[in-house]
Amino acid sequence: MTKHATFLMCSPRGEKSASYSLGNYVSSLLEDRGITVKSFHTYKTLKNSEKIEEMIASINESSIIILSSPLYIDSAPYMTIKLMDTVSTAKQEGKINDDKRLLLAISCAGYLEYYHNNIALKIYKQFAKKNDFTWAGGFPIGAAGTFAMHTVPGLLEQVAQLPEDDVRYQIYGKPTKILDSAFKTAVEKISNGEVIPKEELLKLEVVVMPLGSYIEGGNKNWIDWAEKIGTVEKLRDKPYEKK
Ligand SMILES: Cc1cc2nc3c(=O)[nH]c(=O)nc-3n(C[C@H](O)[C@H](O)[C@H](O)COP(=O)(O)O)c2cc1C
Repeated sequence: MTKHATFLMCSPRGEKSASYSLGNYVSSLLEDRGITVKSFHTYKTLKNSEKIEEMIASINESSIIILSSPLYIDSAPYMTIKLMDTVSTAKQEGKINDDKRLLLAISCAGYLEYYHNNIALKIYKQFAKKNDFTWAGGFPIGAAGTFAMHTVPGLLEQVAQLPEDDVRYQIYGKPTKILDSAFKTAVEKISNGEVIPKEELLKLEVVVMPLGSYIEGGNKNWIDWAEKIGTVEKLRDKPYEKK
């Protein structure tokens, strides 16, 4: 019997987002294993009652749910919370049956450190528990903007040419390889109805570059932009202070 999965893509940035890029990659790995995946851009879906019904029906048919969301203010964004409320209400109303269903969550933080995602992932775990979904595991992604610009396979292809001691290999290649391998193991497990081994998720608990380089890069970016729009002299202005 063909298995179904539902991909809940929770970023308002649509297909330009890290949530899309990573969730879509996991979906494609599931499809490679013969699992059909239905995707919902939840920002659009939640505004349309017919689409909500379609999403709930898809969840009801699915043995796997992928929830991929940005991190806002160290937590789940409002629309991701609304999505969880909508699904929980549908479950209480009996629109989602009690079949075994696995939930895999991906949380995308802008900051470098993966652990900013810990609270959001705990919330998604609680969401799974409340609805009798089996918590398959959570992926805490730091510096997720990288994946808004590149797909996992695209980035791996780009760094494949670099020597292992190249700084770009260290910063992008190494963590992307770890992520790719963890995603592949996760997909192998969840497609067999199993949860993701804890040790696999622990591999993601790495800070991908020295914080000093991150701050330096951020400052450079800030100044480059100011130069571009002609506001370098205004960067230290304090318009809120009385003269
Ligand atoms: C309103 C708002 C709040 C945010 N809060 C955080 C935060 O608390 N911690 C963090 O690491 N990134 C934060 N970010 C950055 C996003 O999490 C980051 O850009 C993420 O990669 C966006 O995912 P997306 O591309 O899937 O939308 C915030 C972004 C916005 C717009």
